[in-house]
Amino acid sequence: MGFDTSRSNVAYNDLVIVFMGHDSMLPVTVKQGEITQTKFGALKHNELVGHEFGAKFNCTKGWVYILQPTPELWTTTLPHRTQILYAPDIAMITFQLELKPGSVVCESGTGSGSLSHAIIRTVAPTGHLHTVEFNQDRYEKAGVEFENHGLSKNVTIYHRDVINDGFPVENAADAVFLDIPRPDEALPQAAKALKSSGGRICSFSPCIEQTQRFCALLRRPGSGFRDVETIEIVRKSHNVKRVNIPVADIGLGNPEVKQHVLSDKGPLNYAYETGDDLAIGHVIVRTNQEAGKPCKPPKRQKVENVDSQESNSEASGNVQQKKGPEDKGYTAPSATKFGYSFRTCIAPKEIYGHTGYLTFASYCPEVCLDLDWCQ
Ligand SMILES: C[S@@+](CC[C@H](N)C(=O)[O-])C[C@H]1O[C@@H](n2cnc3c(N)ncnc32)[C@H](O)[C@@H]1O
Repeated sequence: MGFDTSRSNVAYNDLVIVFMGHDSMLPVTVKQGEITQTKFGALKHNELVGHEFGAKFNCTKGWVYILQPTPELWTTTLPHRTQILYAPDIAMITFQLELKPGSVVCESGTGSGSLSHAIIRTVAPTGHLHTVEFNQDRYEKAGVEFENHGLSKNVTIYHRDVINDGFPVENAADAVFLDIPRPDEALPQAAKALKSSGGRICSFSPCIEQTQRFCALLRRPGSGFRDVETIEIVRKSHNVKRVNIPVADIGLGNPEVKQHVLSDKGPLNYAYETGDDLAIGHVIVRTNQEAGKPCKPPKRQKVENVDSQESNSEASGNVQQKKGPEDKGYTAPSATKFGYSFRTCIAPKEIYGHTGYLTFASYCPEVCLDLDWCQ
């Protein structure tokens, strides 16, 4: 059992993911009489049996969730034997290789099996993954994991060097994936494995020189490949912050100059006083003429402190947001004596998190021949 079940309750020999927090999960195989120690106390396996996946489980010093494994949870909890691929790259690979139930896929190397689990889920129940690993220990451990996770009918692992010995199938694969140090040297083997009627290839490489060599080979006339594209997936986080936009002083201090509020339907006829609430879409204009008969500004709301996250913001200074009726779910720009205070998204100046370059191409030798337009 593991990844391919629709059973909703835990049984012996199940792999379960013990969730103690988003950055604290543990894969556990449920065995009769065994106990696993967690930071929330002992987890008696016998008591897990019959428990519903996803429900809370009480331990001696707290509680955990017992989750059914998925390829994504396995990726975050698996024992690392190599560098592994993570969900953002895996999602792009699955999409760009056009994998679906029934697809036949060749992969090398298997490594820790992180990508393999996601491929197997996508091609099941009728497709197959042929995965090639030349390291004896990794080959054996991945084989045992596939077996224990109940995936054997959709995957075969081979102990061989893909560059010298190639993939185990010819003219049969819908897609080939390479995550090895010299992908260009495995390209002839990949082409042999792909269906001559067409298929997709992807190589993952952390190194730009390898990527360039691989692309050059794909683009060589007569290679049979076209639509070569390299992308890099980098997660970009945006921080929600409060920022102040100062208002230019164009005549404050001049008794002739008045501030008025302008809406999209024209000027509102009351004089604006510093600190008054502004509705969504209203702006302040300054004029040395009355906009109409001055009337009283809307009744002031109770002034509340902005939440602690905002008051930590270096940009927020001592801004206070007055909560008005339009504040629910949206914070209107508010005027302060410093200017306007906005909530906005700020992208980091530098983006970290390079994992590797993903190069994709289509294989279509019967169409491409030696034609230039294919490249
Ligand atoms: C970075 S790991 C792959 C990680 C894998 N994609 C994952 O998500 O877990 C690369 C693996 O390729 C294997 N490898 C390297 N060259 C190979 C070759 N010529 N034939 C077969 N396997 C190879 C290595 O032993 C290693 O386990």
